[in-house]
Formats: sequence, structure tokens, C-alpha cells
Amino acid sequence: MNKIHVETGKAYDVLVEKGISRQISKLIESEKYDKIAVITDEKVGKLYADKIASEVNAVAVLTFPCGEKHKTMDTVSDLLEKLARLKLTRGDLIVALGGGIVGDVAGFTAACFLRGIKFVQIPTTLLAMVDSSVGGKTGVNLTSGKNLAGAFHQPTAVLCDSDFLKTLPDEEIKNGLGEVIKYGCIEDKSLFETLEKGGLDNIDEIIARCVSIKADIVSRDEFDNGDRQKLNFGHTLGHAVEKATDFKIPHGQAVGIGMVLITRWAEEKGLTKKGCANRIQNLLEKLGMPYEIDVDIKSLWQITSNDKKKRGKKLTLVLIKDIGESYLYETDADKLL
Ligand code: GLY
Repeated sequence: MNKIHVETGKAYDVLVEKGISRQISKLIESEKYDKIAVITDEKVGKLYADKIASEVNAVAVLTFPCGEKHKTMDTVSDLLEKLARLKLTRGDLIVALGGGIVGDVAGFTAACFLRGIKFVQIPTTLLAMVDSSVGGKTGVNLTSGKNLAGAFHQPTAVLCDSDFLKTLPDEEIKNGLGEVIKYGCIEDKSLFETLEKGGLDNIDEIIARCVSIKADIVSRDEFDNGDRQKLNFGHTLGHAVEKATDFKIPHGQAVGIGMVLITRWAEEKGLTKKGCANRIQNLLEKLGMPYEIDVDIKSLWQITSNDKKKRGKKLTLVLIKDIGESYLYETDADKLL
């Protein structure tokens, strides 16, 4: 089993192993809690909630509809009311079972309920395993934009069980691969080269490598004031791609396009070694992922003017010097246009 320690204010471990969710009760010491509530969405709920709920002897499975449009304050408010009716206390536990949306919503619910109760992440998508379940970013979308309301609330444990990936649609695997490629670009040249050689067989090893990189960064910068921003490589333009396509291109795949676009732009400005954008593009193509869209970069920069990563007029871009080596580049947001 891979055990990766995250050294945040409240430290915890991420455990990566095929089949690990079958040992959930022992691993989270479920007998310590008087009440455990599982939060999930309708799709994952149908497949896995009964099993997980019976393993941990949960008092309830709280389910909300799938999709980004339900990642809202209304959903959180509804979940909070249900937790209150179940009379969970500060000593109880929430289990977040699902992909990134479930993790964000359940985590934010845990952060708000009684001003914060413990929660455990059981990610069921590749994207959630390698990225969103680790690091304590929780939250919901507002009408004005994605993830605009939220809280840092670290889980007490994360269990990554690659068995869940067996039922994950191909498009969702590609979504996760966008984030996996990101880790190669920002910190791990050999991971990038492994992907270039087609080495996706040992998925547990790949998940563990990505989580280790994230754990290391988050341990240094829990609240996203410095190095953690490197995890946003490809995200600034990626979010713009999502918006410009009305979310038809999902997050991880939009990040893929965002990485190519920002790297090509940076190469033109002499900020990135020439050839990197082509390498990222070729890798995306090899994995059957999109690497371009029919929207010009100016329109995308325009969309980024509302980016929540902006501080004042400044926007911090994440660039790479070369594959495996990233840095932060602060620029005037208006200048980009
Ligand atoms: N997904 C980026 C972060 O957790 O900071």
C-alpha cells in the first residue's frame, strides 16, 4: 500500500491501493464515531453507496443529483438540514464518496456543519484521486463563476481505490489524465516520459506519484499563497476553455488544452524552452484527448479577466521552463489582452 503523508495544519494520510475501500471501516476507525453519514451523488450512489454505508455502519446516505449545476449553495444547504435532522455532532464523521464535485460539496458541507466536522474522502474518479480529494479545497459554484465560494477544510484521510475506475467512462479517465500530465509538466519529467512511452499499466503507481507531488506542495503552502499555485498549470486558460465551450469540454480535458495554449504563448515570449508545447500536444493526441479549440486566445484571455486567481490587477500565470520544471510568472492582467 502507498501511504502518503500530507503535513497540513491537521495532518493526514492518503492511502493508495486497489481494493482498499473494502477495508474502510478499519482504516478510518469507524467504531470511534457515534454517527457516520455518507454523501454521494445519484450515479455513484447507485453503484457503491450501500456497500460503503454498510461497511461503516452509516446512519444515512445523503444523495444529490449529478453534475456541475448541482454544485451549489442550495445543495449544501439541503445537506446541512439533513445532517441537522440526523443530529450529527462535532464528534461525528462525513464520508464523501464520489468524484470531484461530490468531494467539493461534501467537504464544504463538512466545513460548515457545526463550524466544521471531520470528513473522509473516498474518490471514485481518476481526477479526484490524483487531485481534488487531496489538499482541502472545498466549495461550490456561484452564478457568477466556478468555485467562487468555499473553504479550506482538510479531510482526516483519503482512500484511493483504483477498483472504482473499472466503472469509470473513458471520457472521465481522460479527464483525470489531464491532471496527471499536469503533474509531469510541473514537477516530474520522468512521469511525463512514462506517459509518452504509453506506461499507464500501473495506475496505482501513477496515482501515488501524483498524490506525492501534491502532498509535498500542499504541505509547503496549504493556503495557496505561493507554490500551490503551480497546481494551476493549464487551469487559467483551461477554465476559459470550459466557459467558452459552455462546459462541453470537461475540466481535465480543458486543462490539457490550457497547458498547450499557455506553453505555446510562453514559448513565443521566450519564457519556455521551445518544443515543450508540441510535446504536450503530442502526448494529448496519443491519449486521444483534445489539444486545441476553435476560439482565439484573445477571447480566452478576456474570459480570464474574472479569474479568481487574480489579485488586484495582477494575474499569476503558471509557466514551465521545461517539462518537469514550473515557475510562477506575475503579469498585468490587462496587458494580456
Ligand atoms: N487543484 C488545485 C489545488 O488543489 O490547489
